[in-house]
Amino acid sequence: MMRGDESYAGSPSFTRFRDSIQAIFGFRHVIPTHQGRAAERILFNVMCKKGDIVPNNTHFDTTRANCEYAGAQALDLPISEAKEPSLIHPFKGNMDTARLAEVIEREGAKKIPLVMLTVTNNSGGGQPVSMANIREVKQICKKHSIPLYIDACRFAENSYFVKLREPGYAGKSPREIARELFSYADGCTMSAKKDGLANIGGFLCTNDDLIAQQQKDLLILTEGFPTYGGLAGRDLEAIAVGLNEALEEDYLHYRIASTAFLGNHIAGEGVPIVQPPGGHAIYLDARAFLPHIPPEQFPGVALANELYLEGGIRCVEIGTLMFGEHARMDLVRLAIPRRVYTQSHIEYVVEVILDVWRRRDSIPGYELVHQAPFLRHFSARLKPRSPHS
Ligand SMILES: Cc1ncc(COP(=O)(O)O)c(C=O)c1O
Repeated sequence: MMRGDESYAGSPSFTRFRDSIQAIFGFRHVIPTHQGRAAERILFNVMCKKGDIVPNNTHFDTTRANCEYAGAQALDLPISEAKEPSLIHPFKGNMDTARLAEVIEREGAKKIPLVMLTVTNNSGGGQPVSMANIREVKQICKKHSIPLYIDACRFAENSYFVKLREPGYAGKSPREIARELFSYADGCTMSAKKDGLANIGGFLCTNDDLIAQQQKDLLILTEGFPTYGGLAGRDLEAIAVGLNEALEEDYLHYRIASTAFLGNHIAGEGVPIVQPPGGHAIYLDARAFLPHIPPEQFPGVALANELYLEGGIRCVEIGTLMFGEHARMDLVRLAIPRRVYTQSHIEYVVEVILDVWRRRDSIPGYELVHQAPFLRHFSARLKPRSPHS
């Protein structure tokens, strides 16, 4: 970060950033953005028009909102196993390819400007997508000349899960697996705060020269010149290094093991979680945790608030408040920051969750007091319902 070069155009920091990304992701054009959602906004604005449909295994909240804001329909096509939190499946992040083929057949390829795959599937429990599934999605897309884009936020964790769980990959490095994964795609969006191990930043990649030009034009309007895209030179440098460190096996092993430690401990005491434990987070199944609170009274919000009140644990609802009618589950995500916690921190989290678990029957539902027209969960205000209402 100390060698960050702040030249407006053509800085060596950008060259290092671009080269590092191209060495892993392999795309022709690399466009820096200040966050992942800026990459999403530019992608959808360039590629989508009103009435289009964008299938994904599960759209993340900002992805869904940016897609809908561009006038397109964000369609989630997870496999049916993904809808059962307690069910164990090695690749619960997979897309339902039969439904994808069916949607393309029914709606026509002209209405589908791109297909996306989110690796790992954040809103679906941080669950990985298998290489076989990515290949299958690619084949369907290729048949209809539809580009495939990857939401790459947790690409390194996904690659490591492929190594651990998919036959034929045990002897490959996460980096080799990542290269194969991206070789099936036409581009990607990335939030570098995740598997870029950086404090801020993101990028957008594509192999299409024409699309890249349109994306860069839009980038200049709101983000900055295409060699910095709203980032300081030090951020470009941090991402250039972070992407490589995220692919180190020791790091991935430690990360996935510490997440599983939390999940297995609370599950062992009966706490319902999305199984198996995901890469970056444990997801509590709030509907099963608080069966007396119906989805319209936001069981995920009730549980997240209770964990904060009990032990200062800050987590997020991924459910009815976040996705409204599109919510298939009410989850509470305990995302684990990289390289922050020790075992004793995690043990403290276990204790707090178990304390709340023991008094779960007394936790009230919530009702909305204020909501914004989109991405309402970022700024909504809610109040607890009285026990008799
Ligand atoms: C899967 C996924 N996509 C997109 C984003 C948005 O990225 P950012 O927060 O950098 O805008 C996130 C952030 O959590 C994410 O996890």
